[in-house]
Amino acid sequence: MTIANTDAETTTVQRPRAVERLVIGQATHDGAGVKLTRVLTQDLQQRLDPFLMLDAFGTDNPGDYIGGFPDHPHRGFETVTYMIAGRMRHRDSAGHEGLLTNGGVQWMTAGRGVIHSEMPEQEDGRMEGFQLWLNLGASDKMQPAWYRDIPTAEIPELRRPGATVRVIAGESHGQPGAVRRERTAPLYLDIHLEPHARFEQTLPATHNAFVYVYRGALNVGDRRVDSQRMAVLANTAGSDGVVLQALDAPVKALLIAGAPLREPIAQYGPFVMNTREQLMQAVHDYQSGRLAA
Ligand code: CO
Repeated sequence: MTIANTDAETTTVQRPRAVERLVIGQATHDGAGVKLTRVLTQDLQQRLDPFLMLDAFGTDNPGDYIGGFPDHPHRGFETVTYMIAGRMRHRDSAGHEGLLTNGGVQWMTAGRGVIHSEMPEQEDGRMEGFQLWLNLGASDKMQPAWYRDIPTAEIPELRRPGATVRVIAGESHGQPGAVRRERTAPLYLDIHLEPHARFEQTLPATHNAFVYVYRGALNVGDRRVDSQRMAVLANTAGSDGVVLQALDAPVKALLIAGAPLREPIAQYGPFVMNTREQLMQAVHDYQSGRLAA
């Protein structure tokens, strides 16, 4: 684990963003009956471009997750799976295999196509985590598939007063994250705050950003964001970041931001392209066994 001590660093947010709206996720199920909460739903894809989806799953009941996600395809975007608790085994059509465990991340670029399974490797106990879908620019959608398993020990951690921040992607207070992407410049932070602690993060005003609280509650400006709520942050011109303020209990939250692609979004299930014709091609390629070839 990398620990950056950045107390001498002076970056501060002068004009913080406000909360534009609070979103309650929708309870749903996917794969072979896995119960989850879809936090970022399809109607928010334009607003939160380049992000397409965020699912949160968390349960102590094996019946809610045991079916897992058997073989299914993806094309045209990236999936970022972050496990807080439990074990998930990943296998794909190219013969890759990996085990995602407590605190680890799998970053997969589906590109032109991958067929994979994501299956729990446990029959009891808690399973908790998140899956984020990050769009690819039009010119990158048909690139070869790629993935990386990032064990928890390889995720850089940043310490600030009262705060521990896991930097999965992007950069925070001079600490580079585990993954960087040029086009969408994603920031993905898992922020743990002690009671009453405050954390500031600089953000370009044009980048779309949201906070998802998964333990406790915090304030963004004068708006309280409770557990299992997503706060969409306003893109106020001239703003330079966000300030998170814990209340009187510990809090854990994801802060996710990225540069919008501003391209048409065409989605059919696990395929996300720019046009309907490209979607039809993806379905055709999948049905004829050429999606992941
Ligand atoms: Co998948």
